[in-house]
Amino acid sequence: MCGIVAVTGFKNALPLLMNGLEKLEYRGYDSAGIAIINSETQNITCNKAEGKLQNLKNLLNKNNIPGTTGIGHTRWATHGKPEVKNAHPHIDSSGEVAVVQNGIIENFQELKNKLEKEGIAFNSDTDTEVIPHLIQRELNTLGKLNLDNNGSTLLVAVRNVINDLEGSYALAVLWAAAPNSLVVARRQAPLIIGLGEGEFMCASDTPAIANFTNIILPMEDEEIGLLTPLGVEIYDSNNERQYRNPISLNISEQIIDKMNFKHYMLKEIYDQPETAKNWLEKYLIKNSKNGQFQINLPFDTSFFESIERIEIIACGTSKHAAMVGSFLLEQFAGIPTNVFYASEFRYSPPPLLPNVLTIGVTQSGETADTIAAINMEITRRSLVEDETFKPNLIAITNRTESSIGRQISNIIDIGAGIEIGVAATKTFYAQLLSFYGLAIQFAQIKGTKSKEEISKLIVELYKLPPLLEDLIEKHNQSAEKLAHDFFNIKDVVFLGRGINYPIALEGALKLKEISYIHAVGYPAGEMKHGPIALLDKKVPVISIASPGEVFDKVISNAQEAKARDSYLIGIAPKCNGTQIFDYLMTMPESNEWISPLLNIIPLQLLSYHIAAHRGLDVDQPRNLAKSVTVE
Ligand code: M6R
Repeated sequence: MCGIVAVTGFKNALPLLMNGLEKLEYRGYDSAGIAIINSETQNITCNKAEGKLQNLKNLLNKNNIPGTTGIGHTRWATHGKPEVKNAHPHIDSSGEVAVVQNGIIENFQELKNKLEKEGIAFNSDTDTEVIPHLIQRELNTLGKLNLDNNGSTLLVAVRNVINDLEGSYALAVLWAAAPNSLVVARRQAPLIIGLGEGEFMCASDTPAIANFTNIILPMEDEEIGLLTPLGVEIYDSNNERQYRNPISLNISEQIIDKMNFKHYMLKEIYDQPETAKNWLEKYLIKNSKNGQFQINLPFDTSFFESIERIEIIACGTSKHAAMVGSFLLEQFAGIPTNVFYASEFRYSPPPLLPNVLTIGVTQSGETADTIAAINMEITRRSLVEDETFKPNLIAITNRTESSIGRQISNIIDIGAGIEIGVAATKTFYAQLLSFYGLAIQFAQIKGTKSKEEISKLIVELYKLPPLLEDLIEKHNQSAEKLAHDFFNIKDVVFLGRGINYPIALEGALKLKEISYIHAVGYPAGEMKHGPIALLDKKVPVISIASPGEVFDKVISNAQEAKARDSYLIGIAPKCNGTQIFDYLMTMPESNEWISPLLNIIPLQLLSYHIAAHRGLDVDQPRNLAKSVTVE
């Protein structure tokens, strides 16, 4: 949700800013802009363009903008339409202060009213524009205190201004009078500082600076920093200087290549056998005594013994992974489990119960609703004196250096590698696997499944990588063929039951978000209670029918759809019953527990090919952003 990049140093700022924006474009792509200070003239040059970053590149037309200190922004619109006037950076009336911001300033209207009464004219509809005006006003009040150290003056001015801001923000500020200084601050929105050679930088996410450094300092909430070519100073909200050790990043993981794939999404679908292999290598270990494999979670799990109930908090695709997880935790491991939308949990949490494990699932680790819901849960549990109510937490994330990684110490790093396509695929896969790991661990600790049953499931997990390779290859073709026939449809219904109901939801979400086709996922048995009214020959039904507990029921439900003239696509093995499908995306016969890990593949590929066939921007679908850092 908006990407920020900023730099100060001894080198030209423009190449780093543009490279950083390219890497951040997945966070928002409504408009983009940069501002650079020329230290000789002490002028700020600002360029902005509506739409994709390419438009900004065209505007700059390979011209260099001299200056070694600058800020850049790629926007996902919250306040104000995606237009040039609303693009960042925003500049105050004197043209001396420039700001980029990611977040939402909730009291902006009140602040704007005050500024307007003072005669300040606004040029945009954004919440952000109040910030440069407020900083300029503050600088005037401070009387440009200390002209041989203007960076410190700017630091004081920004600190005074952020004290008056409500909401969440990550921001970077330039002041023409301090051409070698950059002030950055964050509250509930991600921001990291990078320590490069002859330059210091900051960005919303690590890939933005990965070409320039692998040493980072993540900023904490309520911190403010002053970056100059000579170093970085970070202060907390009490104005105490903060010292911490930098973190070293694995650069190869941060630099992502599309290879020969047309889109990142397709590459990331093809990455999944490797994702599974990596996860299995990381979390399954062979017991040297009995030669059997067991789950090896990266924290002490002995507290699982006292857990009586699990609550999972997540959004979007992560919630669908959590729903499969909930099925496994209840049906395989026998622990009552509930899954909540983070945005709902925040404002209507269930009554507190003792001995609860709370799991936060977020691939980005930055989803504002999930982070806030977890914070709220930690706070309300910490207020209860009874030990059995204390917070027990696990985070399942792809970004251990993210906000959730700093919030929760028991982390399952899903290790899927950075995902660029806005539609989550391989990270969903690794989240699913993490829930299999948790369910197995709980079943072992609670003794709800025999050694044999647990080994059987582990053996099935081990078979996945080669099976996935075949499935992807095969269904890449069948999905392309189906896409050719179906790219113009208007509505699709996805049906699944039991452990595959969340897979139907995920199939529908994938199709919606990248192809803009209306799709709905439903528990197959519920269709007759309403959605069946939608069906006719124009509405295809995609039905997930995996042999097991509910196979016959799903086939009967599919039959009901066929009786309403719907074209039936089956995600099912070729076996007795599946003849009813008009088109079968043939699946291997598999153990029902494992079936979601296979069934998701044709659904991802089908969405991908339909969107690609419609000529849409698969990796950066309209109105979406990879990391939703606003409420
Ligand atoms: O980073 P998170 O897992 O917390 O993100 C949650 C959702 O925003 C995300 O899954 C979204 O639904 C994706 N676009 C799905 O493809």
